[in-house]
Amino acid sequence: MSFDENLTQARPTFVTHLECGLTGKIYPPDQVHNLSDAGRPLLVKYDLEGIQTAVTKTDLARRPGGLWKYREFLPVRRVENVVSLGEVETPLVRLNALENRLGASRVLVKDEGRLPTGSFKARGVVMAVSMAKELGIHRVAMPTNGNAGAALAAYASRAGIRSTIFCPADTPEVNVSEIELQGATIYRVNGLIDDCGKIVGEGKSKTGWFDVSTLKEPYRIEGKKTMGLELAEQLGWEVPDVIFYPTGGGTGLIGMWKAFAELLAIGWIGPKLPRMVAVQASGCAPMVKAWEEGVEHAPRWENAHTLASGIRVPQAVGDFLILRAVRESQGFAIAVDDQAITNALNRTAVEDGFLLCPEGAATVAAYERSLADGRVKKTDRVVLFNCASGLKYPLPQVTRRLDRHSSIDYAAL
Ligand SMILES: Cc1ncc(COP(=O)(O)O)c(C=O)c1O
Repeated sequence: MSFDENLTQARPTFVTHLECGLTGKIYPPDQVHNLSDAGRPLLVKYDLEGIQTAVTKTDLARRPGGLWKYREFLPVRRVENVVSLGEVETPLVRLNALENRLGASRVLVKDEGRLPTGSFKARGVVMAVSMAKELGIHRVAMPTNGNAGAALAAYASRAGIRSTIFCPADTPEVNVSEIELQGATIYRVNGLIDDCGKIVGEGKSKTGWFDVSTLKEPYRIEGKKTMGLELAEQLGWEVPDVIFYPTGGGTGLIGMWKAFAELLAIGWIGPKLPRMVAVQASGCAPMVKAWEEGVEHAPRWENAHTLASGIRVPQAVGDFLILRAVRESQGFAIAVDDQAITNALNRTAVEDGFLLCPEGAATVAAYERSLADGRVKKTDRVVLFNCASGLKYPLPQVTRRLDRHSSIDYAAL
């Protein structure tokens, strides 16, 4: 069966309405929406009983891999609006050397770097762009730390939608180049991602572009939800004990928690759910601070800095949803510093032959610390998220050279 089957087979869809994540106010489906009246994210609601009768685990097992196999759990109504670049099922890779060194029983990395445009942003953006196409949107804009912009440029171009993107001036060069090359117009801005977000918001009435910022439209979260659906299916519908997720805007963490809630409601998993751990960098840790203080909203983190650019998000519009997922799941939020991130990245590359992105390396560092301080046990089955290909980031210079015309001292190599 080819991947195409997922893209061409019409199947029923089950969206009933949208709901404000804070107030619960209901909004109609099949219309263009950004935030709710309360200025908070809208969550997509489904007829879960309908899904339960329309599809079985066996049906899913027969379909080719990739996020479109979960179509009944997704918002796109018409097959012709599915925009795809070949979204694969991402593998779970065991970190054997790390397990041996720490005496841990099972540590898996979900390697999201294998997706189109090299990051998990493809999952959310493919859904947002497919829905934009379905709703007749012709122009989109977003702020980005790099990876989301790359995904938006690619999928918007593929859908024939114009895209304009704003990133902090120090965004990794490769991201800026790939965004421009894939057909978007990108501007480097002398500020952070939320400053870029303000430009997108303010430009809306002047340009007519649709704002696809993290959680400011309802569908990126539905795409990210497929990380949870896919993970549960890959593990034979047995969820892990703990999930470590590098948290910026938090779409993935919120999306996975939503996936588990939906799977629990239809009786496919449970009652035990994973503990969700929000991993941040100590130079930008608003969620960790809010979690520690027991509050529901996280004020802006001033002077945010970290080499893990994807999680340099000083303020998140879905802060309360991140904190809710962490608390409901009896997880926690933890910050690791750039040195610990670099050490984890280097060691995982050398020991396990796995080139993580810095944000993924942050989850390894956080796992090691949590094991050391007893917040997780060696016997816990753990999944860490590597959200992007390590190849998308600045890599160390190598200066070693060999002159093929001189005699080579092989014993010294
Ligand atoms: C590699 C990487 N990891 C993690 C994140 C944070 O993702 P989220 O917005 O889902 O918290 C990002 C976001 O830019 C990213 O690019």
